[in-house]
Amino acid sequence: METLILKGKPVSCKIKEDIASKITNLSSEGIVPSLAVIIVGNNPASKLYVNSKAKTFKSLNCYSEIFEFSSDITQVELLNHIDFLNQEDKFHGILVQLPLPKHLNETQVLEKIIPIKDVDGFHPQNQGYIMQGTPKFIPCTPLGCLEILKYYDIDTKGKNIVVVGRSNIVGKPMASLLSQNLDYGNATVTLCHTKTNDLVSFTSKADIIIAAVGVAELINGSMIKKGAHIIDVGINRVKDITIDKGYKVVGDVDFDDVLGKAASITPVPGGVGVMTVTMLLSNTVQAAINQNK
Ligand code: GUN
Repeated sequence: METLILKGKPVSCKIKEDIASKITNLSSEGIVPSLAVIIVGNNPASKLYVNSKAKTFKSLNCYSEIFEFSSDITQVELLNHIDFLNQEDKFHGILVQLPLPKHLNETQVLEKIIPIKDVDGFHPQNQGYIMQGTPKFIPCTPLGCLEILKYYDIDTKGKNIVVVGRSNIVGKPMASLLSQNLDYGNATVTLCHTKTNDLVSFTSKADIIIAAVGVAELINGSMIKKGAHIIDVGINRVKDITIDKGYKVVGDVDFDDVLGKAASITPVPGGVGVMTVTMLLSNTVQAAINQNK
């Protein structure tokens, strides 16, 4: 069986085209969708993400501003800054780059963001709306996965879907959305995780696997059903001395091993990762529309 490679780029380009007309409409009313990004400390990976967000926003005539704080910022100072951004009409979206340094209470920080500006969809209120089947903001990574399924016409209705990983950012909202009576839902979903006994007994029956567990190449060809569709959310660095950088980036699925057996798979890099910033842009534009109704 030829395995179709589900690249993120064409999906992302199509969505950007759709968003561009919304941005033009807003611009004719003098509104520029704007995002405030808070970054704490000196995590190089976080800085890379934040810069890539800024570039994408600029390329589509949207605005983003980065607020950098040193890693010794106190909880109160950080909460006060979020309060300031909550009240600043210029910003339609607020994003706090994760992970935060250990001394900060992440849950409390995310709860401080006013839900109408929570374009990451991490606030408990937005997570609650997802659970109820009336999503407002869907976190960018699960939203990107749904857009990939839609673009490549992979139907979820009545399918057995195994989600591997139970994070608040990906696994839990993904499992909830796919099980509901929504577009790109209506599946029978099993949520597996690192403590699941006999993972293969679940993955081997899945029509679609969403791998978001953060374990390099955990899922291999022997664990999947012939003709399964695979969405690989994992981004794991593994040592590789044959490369100058000394490492390579791999997913949660052993890509080469499932080729020829899976019907389709998203590559890492080049798959789901490509979608995340685009979905952030999409959520921010929607926030701008909502706040100017
Ligand atoms: N760190 C890694 N991914 C994300 C994300 O999607 N949102 C935020 N806020 N931080 C992250």
